[in-house]
Amino acid sequence: MSRSGSENTTPGPIHRPRRLRQSKNIRRMARETRLSVDHLIAPLFVKAGEETREEVPSMPGQYRLGVGPLVEEAQELHALGVPAVALFPAIADEKKTPDARTALDEGGLYPRAVRALEEDVPDLTVITDTALDPYNSDGHDGIVREGRVLNDETVEVMAEMAVLHAEAGADIVAPSDMMDGRVAALRRALDGAGFPGVALLSYTAKYASAYYAPFRDALQSAPTQREGIPEGKDTYQMDPANAEEALRELRLDLDEGADFAMVKPALPYLDVIRRVKDASNVPVAAYNVSGEYAMICAAAERGWLDRREAATEALTSIRRAGADLILTYFAKDMAEWLAG
Ligand code: PBG
Repeated sequence: MSRSGSENTTPGPIHRPRRLRQSKNIRRMARETRLSVDHLIAPLFVKAGEETREEVPSMPGQYRLGVGPLVEEAQELHALGVPAVALFPAIADEKKTPDARTALDEGGLYPRAVRALEEDVPDLTVITDTALDPYNSDGHDGIVREGRVLNDETVEVMAEMAVLHAEAGADIVAPSDMMDGRVAALRRALDGAGFPGVALLSYTAKYASAYYAPFRDALQSAPTQREGIPEGKDTYQMDPANAEEALRELRLDLDEGADFAMVKPALPYLDVIRRVKDASNVPVAAYNVSGEYAMICAAAERGWLDRREAATEALTSIRRAGADLILTYFAKDMAEWLAG
């Protein structure tokens, strides 16, 4: 390091935080937060039709995939070192019913997709979802009766789904619904069916958020807008104004046997991620949701910001807030960028 050429005799500040920013190496040495491929989980959409590959209009670069292309995508993610995928099904409208029964069809699209992944990419961890919305003609995560989303009846169906997913080979089951008591019910059902090793990733603090719109577009799963069906999901998903309540949900999930706790969405809830992390003794995940992805993609398409830089900053911030794992549609890109 060369001496400053200045002959200035006035002393100047002793503390110069900029010393730790003056070269790439020093910045690397002083860096507090690491983002690696180990932290990434890729959400994937599966749809009927062996060769289906449809881009989701509001999520550029994300596709509804038939089982064949799904397996190929999973192989690429695995080769890049991404440890896990989270699978969501796009079910044809004519298969949706108010009781969401196709969710329990053993020969259905979803268990078939899980089996294919387990067979063809056995070392990739497969996370399945037990919410009813993809199968429910009313578009809610639970069964709707007389204008209300039923809790305990929904949990019963989800417990059966969890066992079906475990039988198909799921490694982790993730209830994304926010019904009360579902973690305990799923744990009991899995243990009773001989699957004590299947882990539960609970959507612990899932907020009633506007940022899910592109996902509902991908699955065509938005709540049906008609008389007698609740318009939104705010009788089960959390109020965006609440953070203490996230800690209550965390306590319940830990008591009920959750192996991972998740906060969703991620960027508008970094404070909640930090508080949940500080109070949790299980790994904390955050879901960088479809709307967060769409916003960056849309601005980048207009040349208003740089996609890679914005995504890297977003994911680093989610890690800095305390997330051990991040579900993100940037998983594949990020894994490629990290591999250099
Ligand atoms: C539904 C579900 C949603 C997401 C994951 N599971 C949407 C919703 O609750 O309506 C959103 C994921 C995303 O926006 O990326 N159980």
